[in-house]
Amino acid sequence: MRIPVIAGNWKMNKNIVEAVSLVKELKDFVRGIKGVDIVVCPPFTSLWVVKEIINGTNILLGAQNMYWETKGAFTGETSPLMLKDVGCEYVILGHSERRQYFKETSEEVAKKTEAALSVNLIPIVCVGENLKEREGGETKAIIEQEIKALFSKIDSTLAGRIIVAYEPIWAIGTGRSSSSQDANIIIKFIRELFSSEYGSKIAERIRILYGGSVNPQNISEFMNESDIDGALVGGASLYALSFSQIVKATEIL
Ligand code: 13P
Repeated sequence: MRIPVIAGNWKMNKNIVEAVSLVKELKDFVRGIKGVDIVVCPPFTSLWVVKEIINGTNILLGAQNMYWETKGAFTGETSPLMLKDVGCEYVILGHSERRQYFKETSEEVAKKTEAALSVNLIPIVCVGENLKEREGGETKAIIEQEIKALFSKIDSTLAGRIIVAYEPIWAIGTGRSSSSQDANIIIKFIRELFSSEYGSKIAERIRILYGGSVNPQNISEFMNESDIDGALVGGASLYALSFSQIVKATEIL
């Protein structure tokens, strides 16, 4: 049985005061909820203060990016151990905004994934096609390339710890989510890719999330699908009420 994950990607939003207020409210809204891993991913500048507030609660901390090196002359970068140090247990890697605006390649995402796993951070690796690729019938080929890049870097002993987020780019921030059936088809396909590389036992452990315009109204549809193990939430994670409603809809009672 895979424990569902609801992760909030705050992206480049919320100053320190706003982050504190959001997470304090959230903490109260989700108090006592079990059976779902609740993760918040604030910007780097608020990681510490958010960690102080969520210590001892059922909310876990994640970052939105990192570099693969441990330390050294890499101006502006943050290492896996620095994220551990500040209290992160998760890190989002290869988000489409990073691939698109910062030209991150699948090979770089694989190096980051390897580095995260090596210090026991759980990577949330994002994959997904853009509208042109979808309309051109290339969705599976894109996903396959993004997923297979991970395989050469990740040992079978660690592969089961990876979380994948399938985020069709055309559904991000548009209010136009994928249908749950379409998302489940791609998520099943991702699981099959893992299965052919690492075997079905490991593939069955991997948690695969959907992301793209998830909200309190549509979350149940996604969660009712066979292979969708939770959501990576952008806009709706910026409000304690909507994020907590998404979490509650996911809770295993
Ligand atoms: P939205 O939920 O705002 O569409 O964002 C999705 C996303 O990119 C999460 O990483």
